[in-house]
Amino acid sequence: MYLLSKRSMLCTCFTWIICTIGLILCSANPDTATKPNFVLMMVDDLGIGDLGCYGNTSLRTPHIDRLAQEGVKLTHHIAAAPLCTPSRAAFLTGRYPIRSGMVGNGRMGVYLFSASSGGLPREEITFARVAKEQGYATALIGKWHLGLNCEDSADHCHHPSSHGFDHFYGTIMTNLRDCQPGHGSVFHHAHVHIPYKAISIGLASLALLHFKGVITVPRKVVLGVLVLIGMVMGFFQLMLYTFPNLNCFLMRGADIVEQPFISENLTQRMTNEAIEFLERNSERPFLLFFSFIQVHTALFASPRFRGQSQHGLYGDAVMEVDWSVGQIMQTLERLKLKENTLVYVTSDQGPHLEEISIHGEVHRGFSGIYRAGKSTNWEGGIRVPGILYWPGVIPAGKVIDEPTSNMDLFPMVLNLAGASLPSDRDIDGHDLLPLLQGKVKRSEHEFMFHYCNANLNAVRWHPADSTAVWKALFFTPNFYPENSSACFHTHICFCVEPFITHHDPPLLFDLSSDPSESTPLTTDTEPKFFSVLETMRAAVSHHKQSLKPVPMQFSSGNLIWKPWLQPCCSSLNQLCSCERDYQTGKSHEIQRE
Ligand SMILES: *[C@@H]1O[C@H](CO)[C@@H](O)[C@H](O)[C@H]1NC(C)=O
Ligand SMILES: *[C@@H]1O[C@H](CO)[C@@H](O)[C@H](O)[C@H]1NC(C)=O
Ligand SMILES: *[C@@H]1O[C@H](CO)[C@@H](O)[C@H](O)[C@H]1NC(C)=O
Repeated sequence: MYLLSKRSMLCTCFTWIICTIGLILCSANPDTATKPNFVLMMVDDLGIGDLGCYGNTSLRTPHIDRLAQEGVKLTHHIAAAPLCTPSRAAFLTGRYPIRSGMVGNGRMGVYLFSASSGGLPREEITFARVAKEQGYATALIGKWHLGLNCEDSADHCHHPSSHGFDHFYGTIMTNLRDCQPGHGSVFHHAHVHIPYKAISIGLASLALLHFKGVITVPRKVVLGVLVLIGMVMGFFQLMLYTFPNLNCFLMRGADIVEQPFISENLTQRMTNEAIEFLERNSERPFLLFFSFIQVHTALFASPRFRGQSQHGLYGDAVMEVDWSVGQIMQTLERLKLKENTLVYVTSDQGPHLEEISIHGEVHRGFSGIYRAGKSTNWEGGIRVPGILYWPGVIPAGKVIDEPTSNMDLFPMVLNLAGASLPSDRDIDGHDLLPLLQGKVKRSEHEFMFHYCNANLNAVRWHPADSTAVWKALFFTPNFYPENSSACFHTHICFCVEPFITHHDPPLLFDLSSDPSESTPLTTDTEPKFFSVLETMRAAVSHHKQSLKPVPMQFSSGNLIWKPWLQPCCSSLNQLCSCERDYQTGKSHEIQRE
């Protein structure tokens, strides 16, 4: 009895000492150790095969290659979605976009109008918001594409500032062909589908019958129909005409500073803005998300890069992005911040293979050995570059082929910033640091789920005891860039019939032996065929049980253009246009007055 209580007293004492030391250490930590900075760079529509460090021998990307040489190169890095809006929503929140309602439930999975009411819901927690709460200076420079307003033209409910970014300089929407004169229109394809011919023939025959006295069509009806058709056509033309002004504008903070934006030198201006942000905040922890407007079409490149690559304007644009990455790295070096900054380079999804300019120039990127590209869940649509650089913390020159996701940055940033993960929701990403540092050998992503809009398209399974990476596709797009069928006419592949083919049993591949998804396995070539599929199906139903119903941000009501949400820097009779932005603080002040 006595002995026991003495021992327990000793125990208590010991625990107390340990706890006290622990407390001192823990509470001392935030004050003494400086928190790391984050520079996260995302290129738009860049293909994994476009970079030297991923095997391209003819397109020069020395600055990005150097980050890969001196950091970790991920060769199995997966974007959470094959389209920009959902992929970016997942990147910022660490969650599959279906959890935030940021997936199309009909055909459209991206926003086309700045006056749509959908966007990343305020209830979602972004890494920027958490970093800000942890005392970080936060900035988004470049593309957002996650919504703007809800109720009026300036409530900014979905604006980057509502999601934790103190500073914003960039575009709310994406760069589109329609943003720049001479590049054609993505709406042209929609226009083609309006059956003008059938309507004209119908009207002409009606008129003929009417005048021959076979039938009598009241004049009012004819007039009404004509006016209606005229209005539809007029509206369409007006939309095409006003598109750049209404949707392609540049904001600094809450202000529109250039409407429409001028793409020439835009990346240079954004790079300057990023450098200024780094200089301003070199004394405190910061998080910079540099989200390049390039290399999405309409392609552009500054004069000093034009004609510099062997791959036309596309190659020039990639070179300009690489230059910009070099400028950012030089600045970190100059400010002596390299040892305390985590740098990440990626793309939002695979390259957009259908992109050919109206003059026939190839404007698409390259997905390397991977099949297909953007908007598909073939590997070419979601296998993206993933480079992480942090000298002294992350080993140099290491290549990791374990499955990882762009959602992994969320928990990684939170952990490094000293915040705990939200406990009230599912987080699908896993902190990458232990894997990067070699503390663990296996990725925590045993299963990954791949959505095409709101439809579950494919599953990936990396079993704990094996090198295999199984991938099952429940449907595949009818996508043939070589003969420009299906997707070409719609510009982006849809996830519904007749644009897809269902597979039962699903198409099964082992990516560890067939990364190009060239030959689906069969019961003859793979003895475990059915047991593998069974395990994957069980994982799917488990995953589906974890989904909670949320408002769909891509419902028709959230997608359509709502005039009262239209942001406009001038009066309407000036057609929402504003002079170009002046970058130096002084002239910017003058312009604002
Ligand atoms: C390099 O990238 C360009 C542009 O996407 C592509 O056309 C070319 O085929 C690639 N070259 C190699 C050798 O991978
Ligand atoms: C872009 O920059 C170059 C030189 O850096 C300059 O000559 C050119 O005028 C600029 N273009 C625009 C549209 O400002
Ligand atoms: C397009 O190519 C695919 C495969 O290369 C083929 O199966 C399909 O029939 C072709 N479609 C047309 C319209 O030529």
